[in-house]
Amino acid sequence: MFQKEIYIARRQKLSHQLEGEILLFVGNKQAAFNFDANEYTFRQDSTFLYLFGIDEPDYAAIIDNGEATIYADDPSLDDIVWMGPQISVSTKAASVGVNRTQPRKTLATDIAKAIKNGRKIHYVPPYRGETIIEIADLTSQHPNAVKANASRPLIDALIALRSVKEPCEIEEMERHSAVGYEMHVTAMKMATEGTTEKAIHAAIDYASLRSGGQVSFPTICSVSGQTLHNHSYNGTLRKGNLLLVDAGSESPLHYATDNTRTTPVNWTFTEQQKEIYQIVLNANNAAAAAAKPGVTYLSVHLLAARVIAQGLIDAGIMHGDADDIVSQGAHAMFFPHGLGHMLGLDVHDMENYNDTLVGYDDEVKRSTQFGLSALRLGRRLQEGFVLTDEPGIYFIPELIDKWQSEKRFTQFINYDKLKHYRTFGGIRLEDDLLITHNGARILGKRIPITIDEIEHFQN
Ligand code: GLY
Repeated sequence: MFQKEIYIARRQKLSHQLEGEILLFVGNKQAAFNFDANEYTFRQDSTFLYLFGIDEPDYAAIIDNGEATIYADDPSLDDIVWMGPQISVSTKAASVGVNRTQPRKTLATDIAKAIKNGRKIHYVPPYRGETIIEIADLTSQHPNAVKANASRPLIDALIALRSVKEPCEIEEMERHSAVGYEMHVTAMKMATEGTTEKAIHAAIDYASLRSGGQVSFPTICSVSGQTLHNHSYNGTLRKGNLLLVDAGSESPLHYATDNTRTTPVNWTFTEQQKEIYQIVLNANNAAAAAAKPGVTYLSVHLLAARVIAQGLIDAGIMHGDADDIVSQGAHAMFFPHGLGHMLGLDVHDMENYNDTLVGYDDEVKRSTQFGLSALRLGRRLQEGFVLTDEPGIYFIPELIDKWQSEKRFTQFINYDKLKHYRTFGGIRLEDDLLITHNGARILGKRIPITIDEIEHFQN
């Protein structure tokens, strides 16, 4: 964990924004996999990690008018027999600057007392069933009402704090980018004819696990890259395929990496693949060059979309004017997702609070247009934001067929030419960017990305 002063300062900043209020934080419990004693790998709640740093199940905390109390139980002898000696709750609490600890069961009585005294209990939206039920019990609500009654002032304050990464967080993310690099280079080395997606998936996840970190989301490793989040690993690499790998790792303190690379089998592009790949790379580079404090990520997304539209016009797949194409949303046939999202303790950082509140504000509103509506970050960038830059081009037969049958955007889309791309798959190229005082830079060493780097990869 970080130095205790980091956690103390975070809690103080939060308390200043919610002066006099009582804030409730329920950490995660162990979750049963297929029976109670067989559990998923434990993952602490990110808000709890951010404010209290303790990476253990069944912790909760209250901040009452700036005063923090941790609620947790010391291990029983039985726990020690099964899991070995454990550090006491008070020692862990002291290591993050909290001096008050209470048995876990007294949380209910303390919250009940606060409610009786007319205090409002502020909490963030829970996303696990058992936490929803616990908060429902603590606050005497129906479980269905718990998410909707989460505290908007607390959410806003946490988004403001967590959006701007502190130097210690940037160092942690930058250090761990080496593991993200290793995961992708491992996959690229294996992109040879006859290799199975399963084998590559295993090698990617192993590169994360051996660093001590879980993957930050289920690895996407597929020759069917046109399916944006393809979680099946049943394919075998064939000559002419493109292998799309979207994968990331969690650092020891649970900060995520998230990168995507697309590699032609045997590191050999066809001319058709090369043309589309270069358009996606141009969009990625244009976005990285445009991202800086003060610009909206919506405008950076639209810039990347225009680069894609122009590239597709030049390739004869679209026609017309790139600005018209993008304003009307015709490019979303090929780029149906957003340019990127915030990255931090969560791979889609803070998305449990509500992705629209994280990525938009009073000034920049979320669009409802197909494709653009999937953009998770649209608001103005600030120094210290960490975000992904991940344009892509996909040829999705079902979407092509639907739009063609509806005669959609026939003024922009060359459906005849598209017949030659039905089995193309998809290309996405994703880097993690830190917004600096006057621009943006990739966190860590850039994973090989140019056509030349990929074609000479085996050397
Ligand atoms: N890279 C996976 C995701 O953004 O959901």
